[in-house]
Amino acid sequence: MPVIIRDNGLSKDMDNNFRCYKLYCIFEINAFRVMKKKDISISVKVYDNREEMSSGMQELVNKAIEAGKNAYAPYSGFKVGAAVLLANGEIITGSNQENAAYPSGLCAERVAVFYAKAKYPDIALKQLAVVAIRNGEVIETPAAPCGACRQVLTEYEDSQGAPLSVLLAGRNETIELNSSSDLLPLSFGSKELDADN
Ligand code: THU
Repeated sequence: MPVIIRDNGLSKDMDNNFRCYKLYCIFEINAFRVMKKKDISISVKVYDNREEMSSGMQELVNKAIEAGKNAYAPYSGFKVGAAVLLANGEIITGSNQENAAYPSGLCAERVAVFYAKAKYPDIALKQLAVVAIRNGEVIETPAAPCGACRQVLTEYEDSQGAPLSVLLAGRNETIELNSSSDLLPLSFGSKELDADN
């Protein structure tokens, strides 16, 4: 006898009710088997003071601090400096630039990186240092780039096909990430725009 399952999911009689229940069970078990759990983790290096870092990294952080002092941040009082080391050895710096029309301002990271890519479109970005300064002092806890800056860093890292490492420097502690894309898991990028995707 054929099993007739009504639209509302209930079967016609007791026997069919039982079969229907079995169907639901199988569906649920299969759905459970299909779902996968995936852990996404990153690994960072933490330096308790800047002397633990290489002299090159210290230089990059110092350049970011110097750049941060030149920030134009009359609205937030939160000055940020960024310094990016290029594959040709040059260091380009930037600081946040605010505006009375708030959204017209730009973060230090993007000022530095956009200038670097405008000046040297074909040179890879190797390492970026970021520091935040409040009341003339580097803040205690390292500041991490905002979401929009993470998106920009990921774009250039993807396009150059080589990692852009990031140094987030606090007053003493500095966090080193091997890749800027570690800051933005499950990111949107050119791969999503690909017609074959
Ligand atoms: N800012 C940066 O320059 N970089 C960041 O990653 C976070 C925030 C700036 C933007 C604004 O001028 C001020 O810090 C307060 O948000």
